[in-house]
Amino acid sequence: MVAGPPLFQIRDLHVSADGHQILRGLDLTLAEGEIHALMGPNGSGKSTLANALLGSPAYQVTQGQILYRGEDITAWPTDVRAKAGVFLAFQYPEEIAGVPVVQFLRQALSARKGIDLSILELRLSIMEWMERLGMDRSFGDRYLNEGFSGGEKKRNEVLQMAILEPDVAILDETDSGLDIDALRTVAEGVHQVRNARPALGVLLITHYQRILDYLTPDRVHVMVAGRVVDSGGPELAARLEREGYDAWR
Ligand SMILES: Nc1ncnc2c1ncn2[C@@H]1O[C@H](COP(=O)(O)OP(=O)(O)O)[C@@H](O)[C@H]1O
Ligand SMILES: [Mg+2]
Repeated sequence: MVAGPPLFQIRDLHVSADGHQILRGLDLTLAEGEIHALMGPNGSGKSTLANALLGSPAYQVTQGQILYRGEDITAWPTDVRAKAGVFLAFQYPEEIAGVPVVQFLRQALSARKGIDLSILELRLSIMEWMERLGMDRSFGDRYLNEGFSGGEKKRNEVLQMAILEPDVAILDETDSGLDIDALRTVAEGVHQVRNARPALGVLLITHYQRILDYLTPDRVHVMVAGRVVDSGGPELAARLEREGYDAWR
């Protein structure tokens, strides 16, 4: 059997912002069904990578490529990436005044798949997922991100990932002081979504290894100064926990 192109591949990625070179030749390959953790100290360029993968215009790719199923998407605008099945958890993070979660998901799904589910159908699938994710039924009627706690924001991200059915999901586990319950929820949510869709590839960007207590990655990458400097199995996260990032600096 000849293997097709990998699900998601970052090749020699160089990214700058405001004239500063931040990513300096980052390589990473994610296959279908795999969970990878990308870990790095503060300032190593994690958020820059997330923004570049999102296609944020504030970040310029000066060299290298982002490939999705072998296709070069480096120049694709954010919405086209989303439509193709690339999901970034913080793609829709803002508070959108007066838009309830259900309505927002309906718009996002119609943009993603070009199909219009009836509100009733969508409500049913949202309710099903909210139950799986241990979310309160009233959540769907709340206004997007309005007054959401850190944990609720994360749950909402997982719900978006479940409903929008991406092929690759990039979760930026910003160091935002998530409590253990919220971390568990995210980890459990990723498990649930992958159970439903085993081919989903997940790139989890994180500063802390805490979430890896609940989610075992297939691969762990260590990022320092804009590059992946080491890759390995879950034992690499354990080593990070013991030794910190100093060993790689
Ligand atoms: N828009 C920007 N303009 C200039 N420098 C930036 C910008 N965004 C990030 N940086 C710099 O790039 C480096 C990496 O930042 P960031 O990607 O936020 O790292 P991390 O998420 O790993 O903490 C930092 O030194 C930061 O100051
Ligand atoms: Mg960051």
